Amino acid sequence: MTTVAVIGGGVIGLAIAWRCLERGHEVSVHDPDPGGGATGVAAGMLAATGEARFGEEPLHRLLLAAARRWPEFAAALASASKKDLSYRSDGTVLVAGTDDDLRAVTRLVDFHRRCGLPVQPLTAAEVREREPLLSPRVRGGAFLPDDGQVDPRRVARALMSLVPVSDTPPEDAELTVIAAGHASAGLVPGLPVRPVKGQILRLRGMGLTRVIRGHVANRSVYIVPRADGEVVVGATEEERGTDTTVTAGGVLDLLRPAVALVPGLAEYELVEATAGLRPGTPDNAPLIGVVRPGVVVATGHYRDGVLLAPVTADAIVELLDTGELPELVKPFHPNRFTDVHR
Ligand code: GLY
Repeated sequence: MTTVAVIGGGVIGLAIAWRCLERGHEVSVHDPDPGGGATGVAAGMLAATGEARFGEEPLHRLLLAAARRWPEFAAALASASKKDLSYRSDGTVLVAGTDDDLRAVTRLVDFHRRCGLPVQPLTAAEVREREPLLSPRVRGGAFLPDDGQVDPRRVARALMSLVPVSDTPPEDAELTVIAAGHASAGLVPGLPVRPVKGQILRLRGMGLTRVIRGHVANRSVYIVPRADGEVVVGATEEERGTDTTVTAGGVLDLLRPAVALVPGLAEYELVEATAGLRPGTPDNAPLIGVVRPGVVVATGHYRDGVLLAPVTADAIVELLDTGELPELVKPFHPNRFTDVHR
């Protein structure tokens, strides 16, 4: 048994803490605002295909491995916490709003196919069969059958019901896990993680059935409907340091393409407009690795923290069991950019 202190009560830190507790380790989580930060605003798309981007192939392998772990993770967490996580694995519709966007979507779909990712091109009529609330003006798209979603706030609450969380710094621990998102840079000097602002909206209304990833007039937007009527519309990507101001322009940048794709959204109640700070890294992939004896970093999950939580947690458990991280995550050591963290 090892004593483990996890600094950061977002979905990454909480998932690590829960998996370590399950293995019989003595664990505490330290965060003045657990479940806040990026987790508290995230949409919760489990988008191994939808988030796969040109030039990020090593990250794809990790995203796919992460997606394969979600069904078991969600079932185990729901059962242990007796809480509904609003987990769904019924696919995502990729939609193009204009002919220009259709060319971009077609290039993306070709890329997904070359990567061996599951994707089915759809005509405009087929796209609207998948999601009837889409505008008759959409030009076409694709279906990503393996991409799902979960409610990150529910996941955080479920995990917090299972792990001890404190708002004070830890006592001595045999292993300290730094999982404090972008703020990890303040705890590990030189760690290449930075805040990337995302403004995001929460609407309320019924009728939408599918996660939509839309491209409209060269802007992208995602729309994530949940069974309870919450509809998340996200998200901007802005390099503005730790600023979390919600701006009229940011809201417009989300609502304009979202309403162009799903005109009925204009009638939905606008419940919340917030901004969070993703932990971004130079290559958009996470930072997972031992940075000095007794200290391991697990941050930098950027746009994929919710998806990557189970695979990251399992990696830390393996580190505790064997003294080594699994091969799958070794390429993501923070020292891949420089040697200063060795
Ligand atoms: N995962 C989508 C985003 O970060 O906006």
